Amino acid sequence: MAIRQPIVSVLGHVDHGKTTLLDHIRGSTVVKKEAGRITQHIGATEVPLETIEGICSDVMGNQSFKIPGLLFIDTPGHHSFTTLRSRGGSLADLAVLIIDVREGFMPQTLESLNILKRFRTPFVIAANKVDRINGWKTFENQCFLNSWSAQDTQVQQVLDDAIYKMIGVMDDEGFKCDRYDRVKDFTDTAAIVPISAISGEGVADLLMIMVGLAQKFLEEQLESEEGPGLASVLEVKEVRGLGTTLDTIVYDGTLSSGDTIVVGTTNEPVVTKVKALLKPKPLEEIRVAKGEQFDTVASVSAAAGIKISAPNLEDALAGAPVRVANDDVDRVVSEVAAETNICIDCQEEGVSIRADALGSLEALSYELTNREIPIKSVGIGDISKRDIIEASATTEPLKRVLLAFNVNVLPDAQEALAEADLKLLQHDIIYKLIEDYEDWFEKATAQSDADLREVVVHPGKYLFLENCSFRINHPAVFGIRVLAGRVRVGSRILRPDGRTIGKIQSIQKDKNPVKEAKQGDEVAISVPGMTIGRQCRETDVLYVDIPEGDARRLRDVKLNTDEREILEEVIRIKRKEKVGWGM
Ligand code: GTP
Ligand code: MG
Repeated sequence: MAIRQPIVSVLGHVDHGKTTLLDHIRGSTVVKKEAGRITQHIGATEVPLETIEGICSDVMGNQSFKIPGLLFIDTPGHHSFTTLRSRGGSLADLAVLIIDVREGFMPQTLESLNILKRFRTPFVIAANKVDRINGWKTFENQCFLNSWSAQDTQVQQVLDDAIYKMIGVMDDEGFKCDRYDRVKDFTDTAAIVPISAISGEGVADLLMIMVGLAQKFLEEQLESEEGPGLASVLEVKEVRGLGTTLDTIVYDGTLSSGDTIVVGTTNEPVVTKVKALLKPKPLEEIRVAKGEQFDTVASVSAAAGIKISAPNLEDALAGAPVRVANDDVDRVVSEVAAETNICIDCQEEGVSIRADALGSLEALSYELTNREIPIKSVGIGDISKRDIIEASATTEPLKRVLLAFNVNVLPDAQEALAEADLKLLQHDIIYKLIEDYEDWFEKATAQSDADLREVVVHPGKYLFLENCSFRINHPAVFGIRVLAGRVRVGSRILRPDGRTIGKIQSIQKDKNPVKEAKQGDEVAISVPGMTIGRQCRETDVLYVDIPEGDARRLRDVKLNTDEREILEEVIRIKRKEKVGWGM
């Protein structure tokens, strides 16, 4: 069986050097052609084995490689690479996680790591920009250890410190890792390769480790079937003269011009016929390749980045599957429908979520479900007015939230949002979005607690103080100490035997009228309609009487241990009179 190239995704924080590394490997200057030098689109680059062998000639000795090369996918730092999805898993066989040695872990580094963790994708860390370390002596394209041994001790120390920091963070995240030349077992330890994507130092070592990992651990996974092609959509793109095209990665089988293909969309899958297959020339990048940089090919086998030109691709979805269906179209349509189907367990009550692509929607819902945050509705694409209306129809105020990952708010939705009672949270980093939600939730809970505390009668227990009967009746006035909870003007007095004996008309503390008294306060209360010595007497313990409905509502209020205990006592008192009171 043929072995295909491993699909390698290059991940990392913005500006840590993903494109520059691929650029160096390609020997081209893709970086310079990009607007603003930021990778705008996901692209794929095929690096043939000869290129790798050329770069690695110094470090490879007499090893020989079986894999035909590597297929690199560059992912823009400001987007999530969750689009690289196949059958709900990751499209990438391997990954390079790039970290700027001087900056260390950043939000998108952690985001990338989370996703690698989720899919258990093997990866190598490239500790990039070593040439930026103060005092670093550059040796163009040298393997790392040669370059390292020529550095001054304090320069070596700076790099070592940076690597130890990385090891520490990785340890916190549950990964074992070490500098690659100190790794004994690559199955349980991730390798850190110090590199410079500009000078090329360490790049040979990095490639060697990638190829070694692929050959050692992925052989089975890389066996490619002779069968019908399977691909995953990276991007849906308008191309002048061609209409809507799909940038795809073929990860299994063969795809040919003229094939009937089934493509996943947000609705029913589309059945269409391949008009042309456009393959970037080796060492060129799909996204900068134009006209003469494409070859039209009759067919392509896994793994390859290929642009598909075909009719009716307008509704195709990034992250969705493309499958060849030359016979049994119906079966393939149902397979594609199942694969594109958003398998997210939606609840009757929960938050609403929207994301830019299938993969990111799945990643977001996966993280929410992990944190036991229920989801009510999901959607892909920019936020419309309907989304706002639907999300704000949630009854529970704390779930009236729309979490939006990497999508925009359409103009009519902006208007609807201004009027809606809805919290919109937006971010382009999944775990930050969830952190924002958790912060908001905490604040909103505290606020609604405070609101409830205002209207709901609260538990309180107090002592009729000895020698503090100031007036026997009309109204009775006596001193109390609040033992726990609080006592308010307007609350009724409950005796431990279940009788209520009047309502507090006013409270005085240090001769000043107050609305409430809290635990530890000693105050005087006046109560019309009762007589001291008859309904109660000095040293009696009394309670705030709680109406049954309020007792139920208090279940949703954060009470301290004392308050909880008093509530239990009141419930016990009440249940002597009425079975099931407050249930
Ligand atoms: P995004 O695509 O925006 O996420 O960034 P990226 O990770 O692709 O970073 P890119 O390759 O565009 O590099 C960002 C900047 O860092 C550029 O100015 C590069 O020239 C510079 N750079 C990248 N790698 C190195 C390196 O090893 N050494 C030095 N000195 N500069 C580097
Ligand atoms: Mg880039």
